[in-house]
Amino acid sequence: MSTALTPAELFAHIDAGDVPLILDVRNQNEFESWRIEGTREVPTRNVPIWQAVEEVEDLAAQIPDGTIVVCAHGNGSDLLIEMLAQAGRSVTNLVGGTAAWAELLICLPLPGLPEPFIGWQIQRPAKACLSYVIGVPGHACIVVDPARFLQEYLDLAARADMTITHVIDTHVHADHISGGPQLAERVNATYHVPMEDTGGSTPFANEPLIDGAALDLGAASIEVLAVKMPGHTPGTTCIHIPGHLLLTGDTVFVRGVGRPDLTGQADDLAQQLFHTVHDVLRPLEPTTMVLPAHWTFLNEIGTDGLVKTTLGEVFNSTLMSEADMAAFVREIVTSLPAAPQIYDTIRLVNSGQPATAAEMETLEIGKNQCAASTTT
Ligand SMILES: [Fe+2]
Repeated sequence: MSTALTPAELFAHIDAGDVPLILDVRNQNEFESWRIEGTREVPTRNVPIWQAVEEVEDLAAQIPDGTIVVCAHGNGSDLLIEMLAQAGRSVTNLVGGTAAWAELLICLPLPGLPEPFIGWQIQRPAKACLSYVIGVPGHACIVVDPARFLQEYLDLAARADMTITHVIDTHVHADHISGGPQLAERVNATYHVPMEDTGGSTPFANEPLIDGAALDLGAASIEVLAVKMPGHTPGTTCIHIPGHLLLTGDTVFVRGVGRPDLTGQADDLAQQLFHTVHDVLRPLEPTTMVLPAHWTFLNEIGTDGLVKTTLGEVFNSTLMSEADMAAFVREIVTSLPAAPQIYDTIRLVNSGQPATAAEMETLEIGKNQCAASTTT
């Protein structure tokens, strides 16, 4: 390995099982709030920078060559790798540190879409967030649940000569800042986010999708439909290509369901989630590909690197097959961890409250905590 690598290169190394150790030199509280993860477990050790500098000889003796040194912005770690080199240890700096890692997006082609569609799952490892580009080459595409770093979406659309016509947030996100309104404005697309979630009018243009609305992407014989799936939030609206795929937002994940408490209505929304599961999802084709907006655990990532499953698999779980609404609600509501306090602010920002770039970076620290139950 070289003495410096980018977040994308680090991701590739982790994916290949080629990282002996990550030495994270941020403060302990920063490390405990979140750390670098990829598609597989990576040995990680936290030694705050002041301690690492003070004990550099000892540290050099304790870590292997090839260790990746990480700090918040890549500066302290850059100094430390020089000191470690002088102590005889060959290590590598992560350029831009965890701040750069937080912006990393990985684009993976989606197999098995019906002709003439193509699509990508865009993974954001720092948040375990997923977004999607789906469209018809030479025509139009939709972007669903985009992160606020827009270039990847613009590049994917351009690569297939597609115009981004619709930008959709399946719900008002509580864990990360949406790039939806900015992307829509940038490419002159229509932006859609549920009105039930924003609490009414927004400072940005918004045309909420109604249940059953069709999106015209230039494939006349195949429908792309909006489908209301309340539960995680009151207005959650997902995207469905009948018989083929369902972008489920935070309604169902590869394992578990979206937590219903983030808008302060846990019991009521858990009941709505029960109806979504049994009245909306259950009647659909079991072979339908489920493409969620998050993962929580590494075992939700397939051997192909994608986070996806089928509806049939989703319904194999005890919770999803629970036919008694009271038991379903009880199971979910009693398993909820405390919601991060910062989530209320993120929802306000995603509904139009202004925030600076620095505030957004702070608000987005940490992996998502949007799942209610992942033990199913
Ligand atoms: Fe979420």
